[in-house]
Amino acid sequence: MNTTDSSRPATDWDPQSWRNHVALQQPEWPDEAVHSDILKQLFSLPPLVFAGEARELTDRLAEVAAGQAFLLQAGDCAESFDTAADSIRDRLRVILQMAVVLTYYTGVPVVKVGRIAGQFAKPRSNDTETVDGVELPSFRGHIVNDVSFSSKARTADPTRLLTAYNRAAATLNLLRAFTKGGYADLSRVHQWNREFVADSPAGQRYEALANEIDRAVQFMSACGITSETLTDLRQVDFYTSHEALLLGYEEALTRQDSLTGDWYDCSAHMLWIGERTRQIDGAHVEFLSGVRNPLGCKLGPAATSEEVLALCEALNPERVPGRLTLIARMGATKVVDQLPALLAAVHEAEHPVVWVCDPMHGNTFTADDGRKTRHFEDVLAEVSGFFAAHRFAGTHPGGVHLELTGDNVTECLGGGSEVLTEDLGSRYETMCDPRLNGSQSLDLAFRVAELLRTGSA
Ligand code: PEP
Ligand code: CO
Repeated sequence: MNTTDSSRPATDWDPQSWRNHVALQQPEWPDEAVHSDILKQLFSLPPLVFAGEARELTDRLAEVAAGQAFLLQAGDCAESFDTAADSIRDRLRVILQMAVVLTYYTGVPVVKVGRIAGQFAKPRSNDTETVDGVELPSFRGHIVNDVSFSSKARTADPTRLLTAYNRAAATLNLLRAFTKGGYADLSRVHQWNREFVADSPAGQRYEALANEIDRAVQFMSACGITSETLTDLRQVDFYTSHEALLLGYEEALTRQDSLTGDWYDCSAHMLWIGERTRQIDGAHVEFLSGVRNPLGCKLGPAATSEEVLALCEALNPERVPGRLTLIARMGATKVVDQLPALLAAVHEAEHPVVWVCDPMHGNTFTADDGRKTRHFEDVLAEVSGFFAAHRFAGTHPGGVHLELTGDNVTECLGGGSEVLTEDLGSRYETMCDPRLNGSQSLDLAFRVAELLRTGSA
């Protein structure tokens, strides 16, 4: 069987059937023959993840759907091919620290999914960008072209698909080493902080929490439970995800599982459909409907109940819990108006989805200095509105989807160690959307944990 859609004949879907549908946001490759040849090379390369791991993540997400776990999906807006190993480690560390905070305060496991090891392709609102009267193709992520503003840099280069695969493999290898090789050991909760945001207000708060965890670890060790005897204390399950945007690339990494005969997109554990490519009859929905990975789908403020129900039917007709995560990105004010009706419709139709809040993409604005930014308080307000909507609907707020980096950047405003508009220029490094820095991320974890526990931050 190679389709999950029991309402259609099994032969309807195959890894190429998306080609019969309109695929938005695909680059214009200068030479289609070169592009095809590179896709052929990708077909013959080893998968980056395994079907069994994707199935395991679906099971973890089923626990989230049932309100027994919380999803933290976080990482870069657009990963760079030049990201250094230290920077990858810092991203992981911030996510691990946030997960510790959320687990400690909520008492439920946190499922950790990075926007990492493949988040290289970006959808764009405009095909071109004009600077000083010069019009060039937009930057579409390092898998397509380069961010610098020259005709050569902006021309789509299909050899970048191979570089993306190699970069994703190297990043994933490092993440596997860190999460299974001792770096994520719970006895290192202090060490993570020492290496990083210890002197920020959020860092100090974290330090106090790390002391408490240390005492608990010592208590368990006195009782004979140590990271030597219990691997759960030493190792962390960390999953990868990215927006499945370039369908040629995703198709080339799709493999049939020898155990079950099902198809998996082996470029990442979880794939999501962006706000700009979620058309029900479009190529992205068609492609992802047939792979068995857990899926996400972004929902902006214009999403209607009919659209959302149609997406649930197309992407999860068998109603497998954990298969589909709906990622609401409405904006701090719109979430309260728009989300409750969608929650009610999905609940009524008995679709077992995970509901996640992306409080980043609906809260972007241009600061006085011309830079794209987001305010920490708007991010927090959207999470708060998201939780309130769930309380109202009687449904589970499953998690958050964030753009962050461990680096000490100044891209979003506010947070505990207040970033001001005049600070934005000092370390504004993103190639696409503004990300929370390490201390803003940790600060947000504390505030979200309080919201979950008490209903107010
Ligand atoms: C993103 O997640 O970086 C993105 C482009 O989001 P959206 O599809 O929600 O606009
Ligand atoms: Co983004």
